[in-house]
Amino acid sequence: MTVRVPAKVNLQLSVGPIRDDGYHDLVNVFHAVGLFDEVTAVPAGELTVAVETAPGSRVAVDGVPVDDDNLAARAARLVAARLGVEPNVALRIRKAIPVAGGMAGGSADAAAALLACARLWDSPDEPLLGRDDLMDLGADLGSDVPFALLGGTAVGVGRGEQLTPALARGTFHWVFATADGGLSTPAVYAECDRLREAQGERAPWPAVSEALMTALATGDAKALGAALTNDLQPAALLLRPSLRRTLTSGRDFGAIGALVSGSGPTCAFLTENAEHAGELAAVLSSAGVAESVVRTTGPAPGATVI
Ligand code: C5P
Repeated sequence: MTVRVPAKVNLQLSVGPIRDDGYHDLVNVFHAVGLFDEVTAVPAGELTVAVETAPGSRVAVDGVPVDDDNLAARAARLVAARLGVEPNVALRIRKAIPVAGGMAGGSADAAAALLACARLWDSPDEPLLGRDDLMDLGADLGSDVPFALLGGTAVGVGRGEQLTPALARGTFHWVFATADGGLSTPAVYAECDRLREAQGERAPWPAVSEALMTALATGDAKALGAALTNDLQPAALLLRPSLRRTLTSGRDFGAIGALVSGSGPTCAFLTENAEHAGELAAVLSSAGVAESVVRTTGPAPGATVI
């Protein structure tokens, strides 16, 4: 059973106050893009995980755990426990989504493993686990996992796991600049809190950007580019100062929107059309401001059995 699952970029990431459970209340506008990991689940004697770089990709996978720390392995255990079966499955993960890159690659693999294992073990005629149940299991694994199942464009509140699909017209053309090495999401959130405290700022209660929603609903790329925001960006730039140059280069070369993706360090650039995306990707590659440059489009579908 093989499932293909997309990366995401956050079109709006508004970080509210820290909660008692250590998470932050968010407004998180997720947008799935056409950069996919593939997870294959094969019945086996025991639970194993193997991770490889997808054909044609240059993603470094050495940092990905192959033991129980792997989110896909935890997803398999969760599905098995819910269905009352043994988690005896070999998971092969083919990665094209940057590792610890702010594009929710780990969450994507967990979402794919949930779906693959449910299809492997659940009754096809009378399934115990529907799409909503998988979304609930996903939320237990990580804040971004339910969106990887859903795909498209959606507004997330709470930790980011409570989703409402957003109206989005047309196709947007993106260029992503990956960086050498990842950034730890908890470290970036902690840096965001520290910065706010140092500046005597209280975290505002996050609200959905009307300008962003209108830009999406009308398919207006220029307006979308102007409305992109990420509250984690200042923290990511402090932890990885070289990203400033990457963002500036993208803007200088004509991107109509430029921001750090999620907790970074991948930078996302919105362009006007496919041709512009191709040109921007070429100049960013030769400028040497990124480890690698990938162009793709959004929105993309959520986790899908192939
Ligand atoms: O939910 P997930 O495990 O993906 O979150 C990773 C980390 O990101 C959390 O441990 C927390 O530090 C931070 N986080 C947060 N508030 C959120 C989502 C994530 O502080 N709403």
